[in-house]
Amino acid sequence: MSKKTIVKNGRIVTAVDDYHADLLIEDGTIAMIARSIDVDADRVIDAKGRLVLPGGIDPHTHMELPFGGTSASDDFETGTHAAAHGGTTTIIDFAVQSKGQTLQEAVDVWHKKADGKTSIDYGFHLICTDIPDSRLPEMRSMIDQGVSSFKLFMAYPGVFLVDDATIYKAMLMAGENGGLICMHAENGVVIDAIVKRALTEGKTAPKYHALTRPTKAEAEGVHRAIALAEIANTAVYIVHLSCNDSLEEVTRARDMGVPAYAETCPQYLFLDYSVYEQPGFEGAKYVMTPPIREKWNQEKLWRGLQFNDLQVVSTDHCPFCFKEQKELGLNDFSKIPNGGPGVEHRMSLVYNGGVAQGRISLNRFVEITSTNAARIFGLFPKKGTIAVGSDADLVIFDPEEEMTISAATHHMRVDYSCYEGMRVKGVTKTVLSRGDVVIDEGEYVGRKGHGSFLKRGLAFSPR
Ligand code: URP
Ligand code: ZN
Ligand code: ZN
Repeated sequence: MSKKTIVKNGRIVTAVDDYHADLLIEDGTIAMIARSIDVDADRVIDAKGRLVLPGGIDPHTHMELPFGGTSASDDFETGTHAAAHGGTTTIIDFAVQSKGQTLQEAVDVWHKKADGKTSIDYGFHLICTDIPDSRLPEMRSMIDQGVSSFKLFMAYPGVFLVDDATIYKAMLMAGENGGLICMHAENGVVIDAIVKRALTEGKTAPKYHALTRPTKAEAEGVHRAIALAEIANTAVYIVHLSCNDSLEEVTRARDMGVPAYAETCPQYLFLDYSVYEQPGFEGAKYVMTPPIREKWNQEKLWRGLQFNDLQVVSTDHCPFCFKEQKELGLNDFSKIPNGGPGVEHRMSLVYNGGVAQGRISLNRFVEITSTNAARIFGLFPKKGTIAVGSDADLVIFDPEEEMTISAATHHMRVDYSCYEGMRVKGVTKTVLSRGDVVIDEGEYVGRKGHGSFLKRGLAFSPR
């Protein structure tokens, strides 16, 4: 007997629709959408007064990422549990190739980390750090296995950085095989020189992380990434875009018809440079790359989201505890592990800053938190929308309820919040992953191991 669930009386919102209807879920997918559905069901969920949204997709997380002698504090179990609380039903995490490893070995390691641990579905991108010509063809096999996007770094010389020729060749290979290059765009070589100089001048406090990574160093990387993609005649996706200088590069390219895509993150929309001026070592909580920028950049980024020069809001969730992990850089900002927590609060933050504060429509909210990531990363229409045949990944969201974000109540395995005390309107109440309730009126009722690996299709360009 198939399992049936009905979601009744909700306001269904997708990237293009907005109407009241009932949903019938059968065996994990949406079987019927109608004005009123009255059939025998195992469970009926009343969504009256609430929005019924496609589950959030966060295409940028780093569970257990090894960095700077430690590892991100959330693993696939704790991180996906927290994601579900916030209405995210799919993550795409970054597997990492260590130097000397084959691409297959790297992906196999990530499968081991995630397999049987997650309460929501997940996919992988692959960070490539070592791709001589002889290894480039392995990218095809990755794409065949559903790992159809690759992150390359222009930053962190000696660790992650790959040179321009390698980027160009990887872009060619990805483009010819339906893959997509995600670019960490920063001029890391110049940044390293600025960092070394700061340290010799005795500038060791956390704020120097921001002061040694100028916006122009990011914008130069964005410009170069797009130029290389144009030469390779392929698309490019800029990750964690933080500032107006970089956005101008993306906008200029898109205005010329170049298939350049970009995401920003809540930390760049809601936080500003002043976080680094807090007393003592507090600023270490916000040491992430790129750093948090001057406040005036925020409205520019919102404008980028409004005008589709930015297509996605991801989190770059990469938590390190303040105690013991961030403290590795107590006497030297360059030793503070880079990254911050965020996977849990993306939907509420973007709803609050975007829809509740009148910057974007509800449809656009769905598009930038779910649909566009599904389109760009080969998951649509299985994920990213509410339609007959799509996975029943649903968020039942109260647009009126408010909550206060705090480390005391969040579910991420990290001892601080970047948004401590922030009051937001718009709360995830109930979450379904392939028809199974994972969060029920705010309570976790999910199951470790429910989540499946998503073998993603080829990258598709939404323009
Ligand atoms: O500081 C950050 N963003 N840490 C995670 C790694 C990356 O570059 O995305
Ligand atoms: Zn990055
Ligand atoms: Zn990242």
